[in-house]
Amino acid sequence: MKIFSVIAQLVAIFASFLLISGSCGKTSTPTPPNPCSGVTVAVTATTVSPTTIGGTNGSITATATGGSGFTYNINGGAFQASGSFTGLAAGTYTVIAKNSNGCTGSGSFTVSGAPNPCAGVIINVTAVTTNPTTVGGANGSIVASATGSTGLTFNINGGAFQPNGIFNNLAAGAYIIIAKDANGCTGTATFTLVNPNPCAGVTINVTATTTNPTTVGGTNGSIAAIGTGSTGFTFNINGGAFQATGIFNNLAAGTYTIVAKDANGCTGSNAFTLTNPDPCAGVNITVNNTTTNNTPCEPNNGSISATATGGAASYTFSLNGGAFQTSNIFGSLGPGNYTITAKDANGCTGTSGSIAVSNLPAGALFSAVRTVLQNNCVGCHNNSQAEGGMNWTVDCNIVTFKERIKARAVDANPSVMPPTGALSTSDKQKITDWINAGGRFSN
Ligand code: HEC
Repeated sequence: MKIFSVIAQLVAIFASFLLISGSCGKTSTPTPPNPCSGVTVAVTATTVSPTTIGGTNGSITATATGGSGFTYNINGGAFQASGSFTGLAAGTYTVIAKNSNGCTGSGSFTVSGAPNPCAGVIINVTAVTTNPTTVGGANGSIVASATGSTGLTFNINGGAFQPNGIFNNLAAGAYIIIAKDANGCTGTATFTLVNPNPCAGVTINVTATTTNPTTVGGTNGSIAAIGTGSTGFTFNINGGAFQATGIFNNLAAGTYTIVAKDANGCTGSNAFTLTNPDPCAGVNITVNNTTTNNTPCEPNNGSISATATGGAASYTFSLNGGAFQTSNIFGSLGPGNYTITAKDANGCTGTSGSIAVSNLPAGALFSAVRTVLQNNCVGCHNNSQAEGGMNWTVDCNIVTFKERIKARAVDANPSVMPPTGALSTSDKQKITDWINAGGRFSN
């Protein structure tokens, strides 16, 4: 209680004192002249750059005119008696100088950066590379060297710098080598180590045991393939997916390519052919035929009509090894020996024996006329003497010129033959009867 009342009394006394002195200042103090009026404070400085790029040992040493008793600050900091500011990085700084009357002036000064020691320095990195000797092996190396500067150190893939460019125990891959000189100037190059070809010198052979389909068009054939020349094989067929075994089932007849691939991806291949069973095994096709003989002295009209048994319908037929046709009849045949081959639906064939097509014998009516001409005409109509161009010793001439024979020997038109005397009535009748019957060799 006692302490509180003492504090309250002190506060009251202090308050009345402020009131008195405040009213006193306002009424009695005159306005002083401005000491800086007409005073120009000018700041000049010398600057020193940092000695390294990014360094902070630059400095500014400022001096001022326009009064005395100067203090200085930099970038709005505290004023100090010296115009020297050290520990500066490159940059632009504002220095304010204040004289003893509080008049100020300022200047802006730039501390430039250290010169780039790497300007114009080109460091070239080259290397002799040695690939790993095995796939996945780590015995590759890079021996790097650099030109363009001195005091070089090297690192690999951003690691620590070392005094030489030799990097051992490297696996396949791309590596970045940096060479750095004493000034920190660098050159970079990338070198790639590759694995050896795992398949060099590897020859993979594929062999197989094949099983043909048991029926024509069946799909129960199989190929059981093995690979030699490496290990860890997988197999595919006709470019399909690889599988662990070389056994391929459910195959129809055809040619299949099997590829064997080892653990390193090296491959070998071979083609295997499955064949259908012979559809003709045990099939005996018999060709039977009927023939029609040829009529001489006319266009060939012999024919063979064939039938086949023993195979699978339908058949096609070939004459003397010619093209197969669906018709079983071959016509327009002259005299001769022929063979017919029949082919069934499965392509199985059977061939006939020799089939003879003969000329028909001379008919009775023709033979009678021929006898008449031999007896009455051939003296003037033969091989050496063929009066009127006619030679009646050739049978087909008789058939061909039958109308002329009738005209001369029967009808005496335009004059009778023989010219030595007409034929008997019965001989004329033989000529007439033959012609009326068709006048053919076979009549
Ligand atoms: C003695 C000889 C002689 C005898 C035999 C003879 N011819 Fe001739 N023949 C001729 C002479 C010559 C010609 C040619 C002149 C003519 O056409 O009259 C001829 C021409 C023909 C011609 C061809 C002219 C035509 O009209 O087309 C025929 C056909 C012919 N004779 C049929 C016969 C017949 C058939 C016989 C038997 C029945 C026969 N000749 C017997 C002498 C003969």
